[in-house]
Amino acid sequence: MANGEVPAGGSVPSSGIGEIAKREPLLRMVGLSKTFGAVRALTEVSFEVYAGEVVGLVGDNGAGKSTLVKTISGVGPADEGEIFVEGQPASISSPQAATRLGIETVYQDLALCDNLDVVSNLFLGHEEVSPFGALRETDMEKRGLEVLRILDVKIPSLRSLVASLSGGQRQSIAVAKTILRNAKVVLLDEPTAALGVAQTRQVLNLIKRLREQGLGVVVISHNMADVFEVADRVIVMRLGRRVGTFDVKNTTAERVIASITGAEFGGRSIEGASASSISGGNER
Ligand SMILES: Nc1ncnc2c1ncn2[C@@H]1O[C@H](COP(=O)(O)OP(=O)(O)OP(=O)(O)O)[C@@H](O)[C@H]1O
Ligand SMILES: [Mg+2]
Repeated sequence: MANGEVPAGGSVPSSGIGEIAKREPLLRMVGLSKTFGAVRALTEVSFEVYAGEVVGLVGDNGAGKSTLVKTISGVGPADEGEIFVEGQPASISSPQAATRLGIETVYQDLALCDNLDVVSNLFLGHEEVSPFGALRETDMEKRGLEVLRILDVKIPSLRSLVASLSGGQRQSIAVAKTILRNAKVVLLDEPTAALGVAQTRQVLNLIKRLREQGLGVVVISHNMADVFEVADRVIVMRLGRRVGTFDVKNTTAERVIASITGAEFGGRSIEGASASSISGGNER
């Protein structure tokens, strides 16, 4: 297909990301629709993420990205549609159900406790307790250190208060927490939006480490440079529909942006762009 476009939800050509796409996705959603009163926030959206893959989920404000992530994370289930986790039909009716299925979401506000140290945050709500009810502090420190080492997260100390950490370090702790909950799929909503250059680098590296660990990662971002650095595939939403899917190795930011804005839609062109340069990614 032209312009790095790959079919939605189906198998992809044998080049590029084709190898991973031949397998069953970790998570597949089919025909998701959701309305808020008169607003159709999602219309028959299908979505899939494979093990060892980073999917960039992009689209303009109000395109339906957060609504889609909320259907996956169990915060706002869809009105219609089917969900398959590792090929098995599943229902994600609550965040607890998502956690049981190995799906974890890191929201922008992160939900960390500033007044607690790193270990306490890592295990908050999932503390390891001895048969006599005592917290297994050394066990938690050991596991916490191990996960931070695997993810190559650098922090001053496990006993540092989270309030004293940088934005990138905090984001990293929130992601490490999902690993400690045995996540298979991690959803990140604008993980670098509030971060400086060095902190953004730390989080992008962390996302790559998640992929190396075989997780499926979904990253919502408005930052094309970040998306192109970490994503294997980019899925474009517009007005509640999935309108484009791109293999990042075979496309450009301009083509993805054209799909986001609808510049390629119905043969309408964007200023200064030729018809061929804006035709990719349209799935309708
Ligand atoms: N709780 C809600 N009640 C009513 N309408 C909603 C609600 N949540 C989302 N919407 C509507 O659904 C549509 C999709 O919103 P959504 O938040 O998913 O967009 P988004 O792609 O995440 O945008 P942004 O990039 O601005 O975060 C919008 O028209 C929005 O107004
Ligand atoms: Mg949003």
